[in-house]
Amino acid sequence: MTQLPGLLDTEAIRKDFPVLERQVHDGRKLVYLDNAATSQKPRQVLDALSEYYERYNANVHRGVHVLAEEATALYEGARDKVAAFINAPSRDEVIFTKNASESLNLVANMLGWADEPYRVDSETEIVITEMEHHSNIVPWQLLAQRTGAKLKWFGLTDDGRLDLSNIDEIITEKTKIVSFVLVSNILGTFNPVEAIVRRAQEVGALVCIDASQAAPHMPLDVQALQADFVAFTGHKMCGPTGIGVLWGRQELLEDLPPFLGGGEMIETVSMHSSTYAPAPHKFEAGTPPIAQAVGLGAAIDYLNSIGMDKILAHEHALTEYAVKRLTEVPDLRIIGPTTAEERGAAISFTLGDIHPHDVGQVLDEQGIAVRVGHHCARPVCLRYGIPATTRASFYLYSTPAEIDALVDGLEHVRNFFG
Ligand code: ALA
Repeated sequence: MTQLPGLLDTEAIRKDFPVLERQVHDGRKLVYLDNAATSQKPRQVLDALSEYYERYNANVHRGVHVLAEEATALYEGARDKVAAFINAPSRDEVIFTKNASESLNLVANMLGWADEPYRVDSETEIVITEMEHHSNIVPWQLLAQRTGAKLKWFGLTDDGRLDLSNIDEIITEKTKIVSFVLVSNILGTFNPVEAIVRRAQEVGALVCIDASQAAPHMPLDVQALQADFVAFTGHKMCGPTGIGVLWGRQELLEDLPPFLGGGEMIETVSMHSSTYAPAPHKFEAGTPPIAQAVGLGAAIDYLNSIGMDKILAHEHALTEYAVKRLTEVPDLRIIGPTTAEERGAAISFTLGDIHPHDVGQVLDEQGIAVRVGHHCARPVCLRYGIPATTRASFYLYSTPAEIDALVDGLEHVRNFFG
């Protein structure tokens, strides 16, 4: 078995993930390499979810009965866990949403309805990048269409990194918000946060970071990032679906208007007007995703028990190995950085002129789960002149043997298509 320095004890870890024992297609061992789409869930998270429903289920913040108080304590306890996980200065800066897309839409809408000095209008500019997930493109397009603001973006270099050579022309005195991804879901690139934040701060623009592909894989410190908003989702980090997070700086959350209205987010309501609860509740209208937040809390406990530094080191070793092995496959072109440095554990590639959907299907027949398509980042495919890619993405339970299986599988794909 291939041993690499820095690997976690995957034999022990895999025992926590029941689904990894599955066989597919008549007894083939499942090789799950679609972790950038969603991660598998450890028993500890599954147990927390069923325990919540079996013992505590009640609505939060409104009941006087025991179950309501316990459910509220669990839900708010999950907020504490998230705050500690991302080193937030205050738990009140953690807003629960349903996913990262909702978190990013929330920021766009806060700014769209805000008063000065945050207001985005026809005199102002919004800056994103060409490597964003659609969830960090479309909300800004909608905001630009609604307000008349100009949408600008950083382009990409041939090796899958941000082209910041014209940073001073892209981020200007007119920029109100710069929103960019920390780790690309399609290219795997780690982006240079510091340079972008420095320029944004110079011109007084706000910074929003999409950390969906970072939070599951590395220590995340919102204070060190010096951003104003950080968005991520629970289901990619061992948590359930239906729970996302928006972290925002407290003074901004106090000043900015809510987006969704309803129960939970108010202080008082009359038939003429309403006043709002303080953040984070101001941004959490309606019954929140209670069980999902509890599940996310359990996922955070689980990841902490392994250690985010160790998870990062594990994935770095795997990525280095995967890049080396994939580079040996004839006709394979990695779309994105071709070294393991400054990149994460999602590797996109094309294989000659075999369509990625065909690659994915033949791999699936061998039990290997990858994602194919434009990965909700179609502008990246347009930039590199390809219709789609095949993407393999790793997590804390992935092994070098699974990378070997992928490489063997690709050999099979090549033979199959002649
Ligand atoms: N954003 C997820 C992905 O990249 C769904 O696959």
